[in-house]
Amino acid sequence: MKIIKQTTVIIFIALFLMSAQTLTSKAAGNCDYILNTKCTTCHNLGRICRKLGKKKKSKWTTTIKRMVRHGAPLSKDEVQELAACLTEQNASVKDACK
Ligand code: HEC
Repeated sequence: MKIIKQTTVIIFIALFLMSAQTLTSKAAGNCDYILNTKCTTCHNLGRICRKLGKKKKSKWTTTIKRMVRHGAPLSKDEVQELAACLTEQNASVKDACK
């Protein structure tokens, strides 16, 4: 009986770790998606990539909100998410700017 209990616990831990991993990779991947689908309709990514490392998070938020006023279709969550990615210049941003 004891061994079955232990196995169950291990399976739960494994499932938990697996789902946590898909969640984080999805979050990181989403910026790539936002950039490539919602930020390229009016200008290319060069305009964004050139500014990497030059803006603090608050400045990126201001810029992205201005883009939303221009017509970029981002939800409030996406504005925050993208501002974080652009400030950190995480892997998804580096990928998009290659
Ligand atoms: C509806 C059209 C449109 C969309 C969609 C759009 N932009 Fe822009 N973007 C503009 C225009 C127009 C300018 C130049 C005028 C300005 O800066 O407001 C610009 C300029 C910029 C600049 C350079 C100016 C600065 O302040 O650094 C950046 C960076 C930028 N956009 C980022 C983005 C990002 C990130 C997205 C996606 C969330 C995006 N844009 C989507 C219209 C758009």
